[in-house]
Amino acid sequence: MKVLVVGGGGREHALVWALARSHLRPTLYCAPGNAGTRQQAENLPIAAEDLDGLCAWAEEHRPDLTVVGPEAPLCAGLADRLHALGLAVFGPEQAAARLEGSKAFAKEVMQAAGVPTARAGVFSDVGEALRYIDSLPGPCVVKADGLAAGKGVLLCETQVQAAAAARNLMEQRVFGAAGGTVLIEEMLEGEEVSVLALVDGERSVLLPSSQDHKRAFDRDQGPNTGGMGAYSPAPVLPDHELPAMQELVIDPIVRELKARGIRFCGVLYAGLMMTADGPRVLEYNVRFGDPETQCLLPRLDVDWVETMVACVQGRLDPSQIRVRSGACACVVMSAGGYPGAYRKGHPISGLDQANAMEGVAVFHAGTAWQEEQAVTAGGRVLGVTGLADSLEVALQRAYAGAGAIEFQDRHFRTDIGARALHPRAVRG
Ligand code: AMP
Ligand code: GLY
Repeated sequence: MKVLVVGGGGREHALVWALARSHLRPTLYCAPGNAGTRQQAENLPIAAEDLDGLCAWAEEHRPDLTVVGPEAPLCAGLADRLHALGLAVFGPEQAAARLEGSKAFAKEVMQAAGVPTARAGVFSDVGEALRYIDSLPGPCVVKADGLAAGKGVLLCETQVQAAAAARNLMEQRVFGAAGGTVLIEEMLEGEEVSVLALVDGERSVLLPSSQDHKRAFDRDQGPNTGGMGAYSPAPVLPDHELPAMQELVIDPIVRELKARGIRFCGVLYAGLMMTADGPRVLEYNVRFGDPETQCLLPRLDVDWVETMVACVQGRLDPSQIRVRSGACACVVMSAGGYPGAYRKGHPISGLDQANAMEGVAVFHAGTAWQEEQAVTAGGRVLGVTGLADSLEVALQRAYAGAGAIEFQDRHFRTDIGARALHPRAVRG
């Protein structure tokens, strides 16, 4: 059985690692992969955004299953094109991927489905956007409608800031076409948490909660990144509350899409804010999170090939997903300078020592294999995970692993999970 994984980050290494454990013993391919995925998959020199290249390879090699990691190829219609070739894909078609690709569409679907979310206005005319900002009583959030690599969301304390943000997105087009339409929504307060669900078009199964750390430096300082670490479960959303969350924020969306003739197959990821008035959805993603996946998959006892095929075929069964008790933490090691400019090509040492530690698994992200060794090749270089009976020990293990790994200008946050361990101390 051939399985193709599309993408080359930490999430994709975790997926390859998990798929490789299937009793179906798949032959794995990863496009483009990294120095970690090459241990269990054949890396293909095809970029995740190269739909023509991916489809040409798939047409020739006919994988039994393709698992798409990142959002860009899903939003560009990779699943539709592979379906047209008669191939099975874990990941939604373009019409469903719009939930992530267009925040205006997501808001409209949430409203139609009755899912709790921040109040918002949607504008394509800058004059109307500015008038709406003037009418708002408090701080707001200005969001580019389209994909902007996680950077198109601007938190504005004042109307002056919000007006400048709207002008930057809509007139200066700092995020290109993504800012042609903007959402302006009320600013919410609370703890953030992620819930990911496997969806087979009808049914969903929720995975345990997780929380990521978006800022580059300790105590949530510095610029936003793709994610500097994550842990699961998140205490703000314990396992026994997952069924209620499924009814509140996952199943209504799957039903609403279905009513519109849109089938959702893959992972539906809800980014939530737990406010004093209850949970509110901030965003939907249509894929696994990165680095959430690196701390979710080690907690799950799942035959991923079987389960993803079941999703594709519309026969997902909750008994296929068994959650291990305990906790998992992932510490991302990045190249100094990330998310700004950084250097590549530095050799990485200590990987074997870290992997040999009890409860530690190292997932590669921005790495490449050169002259028989792993070198840095991206901003987020590695995700070091620790698995244990408690979050405290999971974190100790992840940090012990990270401490064993060296490369020039390495950086990692030292407070991953601190908020969950000492809620009051960190919230200040
Ligand atoms: P999004 O891509 O929409 O999830 O936004 C990215 C980040 O911006 C979220 O993880 C939150 O930290 C923040 N954010 C988005 N919307 C809001 C909101 N309405 N109120 C407060 N913070 C928000
Ligand atoms: N870690 C956030 C995301 O994958 O979108």
